[in-house]
Amino acid sequence: MELSILTICYLIGSLTFIIGLKMLSHPESARKGNMVAAVGMFIAIFGTIFLYQENGVGLHNYGWIFGALVLGTVVGTLAAKRVKMTAMPELVSLFNGMGGACAALISVIEFGHIAALYSGEHPDQAAPTEGTLLTIFLGLIIGAVSFAGSIIAWGKLNGKIKDFSFKGQQVFNLVLFFATLAVAGYLVLAIDSTNYLLFYGILVAALIYGVLFVLPIGGADMPVVISLLNSFTGVAAACGGFLYDNSVMLTGGILVGAAGTLLTVLMCKAMNRSLTNVLIGSFGGNAAAAGGSAAGSQGAYKEISISDAAVCMSYANKVIIVPGYGLAVAQAQHVCHELEKLLEEKGVDVKYAIHPVAGRMPGHMNVLLAEADVSYDKLIEMEEANDEFKSTDVVLILGANDVVNPAAKTDPASPIYGMPILEVEQAKTVIVNKRSMKPGYAGIENELFFQPKTSMLFGDAKAALQKLVAEIKSL
Ligand code: TAP
Repeated sequence: MELSILTICYLIGSLTFIIGLKMLSHPESARKGNMVAAVGMFIAIFGTIFLYQENGVGLHNYGWIFGALVLGTVVGTLAAKRVKMTAMPELVSLFNGMGGACAALISVIEFGHIAALYSGEHPDQAAPTEGTLLTIFLGLIIGAVSFAGSIIAWGKLNGKIKDFSFKGQQVFNLVLFFATLAVAGYLVLAIDSTNYLLFYGILVAALIYGVLFVLPIGGADMPVVISLLNSFTGVAAACGGFLYDNSVMLTGGILVGAAGTLLTVLMCKAMNRSLTNVLIGSFGGNAAAAGGSAAGSQGAYKEISISDAAVCMSYANKVIIVPGYGLAVAQAQHVCHELEKLLEEKGVDVKYAIHPVAGRMPGHMNVLLAEADVSYDKLIEMEEANDEFKSTDVVLILGANDVVNPAAKTDPASPIYGMPILEVEQAKTVIVNKRSMKPGYAGIENELFFQPKTSMLFGDAKAALQKLVAEIKSL
């Protein structure tokens, strides 16, 4: 009876994960989707705590279980409440690292039981099957790589860890990786009382590999790496599901693994880069640092005053706002929404063009604008926006750079060549707000800023928008 209720709990858990994930694909339903999946997780966790039994014995160490649950809930809630929107990728990385650590710890604990057999503590215990050993080793290696890599990614994003590489590192990494797999394979086939301690060597090697794998990758490429590590954590958790024959853990792990992989692929596609290029290239890391000096080499640009920009937008029929990373840094989403409402009151049709990789994480702009209560039907995706620019009077670019760089279409030598962009230059007038002529993430100059129809509105996005709003009100 109890087992069947537990099975139903797991079924509900698995279903809510799938439904929740589907709901996450649209900003309007995303919040609810998160709740749906969280309720399913709650049911699966508490079902396991109170209903799970092995050989008629249930879980009993409630002190530890609830102690950890309370601690995790408090730390997680505080971290999520306090995190700034721009620091979100950092937090995701840290949380992902914890998931990897959990998956690796499952392997460590389960291997502890096996080790008892080989150390002679429980000689009567049955020997593990090869399938069990394989699952334990896979969970250990993937979980440990994900944990160590995510912690390095977290450190890089908050600036505490710098890019680091040494000559021959890629070769060293490959040798370490295959050596780790080879030793694990050997143990799966021939584990005995003379070699079982190699398990802990594999754990250390996987942790070192995780560190060395992420250390050389450019800091700005971390969102892609985090997404990849996220898929690793999913696979490691799925290994735990196999090990415990736990369907909800298996489903959850597979969903995270698949979602992380798809997201990684989509991010690479949107940047027009291969995963290999992200993992061993220097775009976004060294390139960004080097690119700054080139700014200004394309000649003259013109500036626009706040009052001219205000007039230009107030008397337009249609304005499209292009938000980018700078809008997020400046936390200018609320005043941006104010500008939108003000212009609409004056009869201007206002929309937002959202590039899939604007900002520094998937859906960055959607989340930011949703926070400021911008209506979802005001947000248009890249393809639709590119059709609309022709009939647009003014495009206002707020802290975006790479996602509007025409070099992606015109310059085969550019690192972003081939990346789909917002073709803002089709509009009648383009106003670009940023603080200077410095490049964005890709570290390259933007010829858009030097085109005759473009005017630069220098300043912090929030301050500039506040002045614009005040000016438009006074018109
Ligand atoms: P970027 O190309 O990074 O440009 C952002 C611009 O914002 C900078 O040029 C900067 O110029 C300006 N800025 C910074 N702080 C500002 C402030 N307080 N006020 C006004 N402007 C400010 O941003 P984007 O166009 O959004 O493109 C995103 C880039 O990130 C793409 O290259 C994309 O491939 C990459 N990327 C995105 C993701 C995801 S999933 N979104 C993941 C990995 C990589 P100033 O310094 O002159 O102000």
